[in-house]
Amino acid sequence: MPADHRLHSPAAERNAAPILAELQRLLPASGVLLEIASGTGQHAAHCSAGLPGWRWLPSDPDAASLPSIAAWRAELERVAPPLQLDVLQPQWPGVPAAVDAVYCANMIHIAPWPCCAALMQGAARHLSPQGLLVTYGPYLEDDVPTAPGNTAFDADLRRRNPAWGLRRLADVAREAAQAGLVLHERVAMPANNLLLAWRRGAPPA
Ligand SMILES: C[S@@+](CC[C@H](N)C(=O)[O-])C[C@H]1O[C@@H](n2cnc3c(N)ncnc32)[C@H](O)[C@@H]1O
Repeated sequence: MPADHRLHSPAAERNAAPILAELQRLLPASGVLLEIASGTGQHAAHCSAGLPGWRWLPSDPDAASLPSIAAWRAELERVAPPLQLDVLQPQWPGVPAAVDAVYCANMIHIAPWPCCAALMQGAARHLSPQGLLVTYGPYLEDDVPTAPGNTAFDADLRRRNPAWGLRRLADVAREAAQAGLVLHERVAMPANNLLLAWRRGAPPA
């Protein structure tokens, strides 16, 4: 029997269902979705199963993640083999010129800050005119008290890597605006996370 390379993230196991419910609500019936920072590949497997009209293109820069993503998608026809993709690459080789959605969970706070701008710029390069960028994770909001769990998580991330940490939504929105993307929808998710949908457009005056 071949080795099972599937890695299991308990967080991805927990949040896949609520994320899928929002993707089903936000996305049209069919299209091509590029996933940035797929990690274990659990979201690709779970969410693609609930989006039968969609082709899912998973990616991650970490060579250690690719066998896990490949194993999770092994029997899923609509999920492509994973691309090795770092958002900081000036171009994103292997990514189709136009995709209908870009999905990125839990990268912006677990990667150096320039990855946020790179994600926004790359998504803007590849999204079709009506395309949607969906980001998911914890954010700091100026007008919303930070949950104690998120304050502790932020401190823990910064201890592990000083370049990591929860980001202010206002700063993320500024990077998005520089790429020509605006916040279309903010959805409060379990465990003090947000799911954010971004579209092309001018920022509010
Ligand atoms: C906490 S994991 C999230 C994985 C998955 N999206 C999830 O929510 O379970 C963070 C992921 O970000 C990826 N990552 C870090 N830096 C990146 C970069 N520069 N470009 C793309 N992905 C990156 C890591 O390889 C890792 O898989």
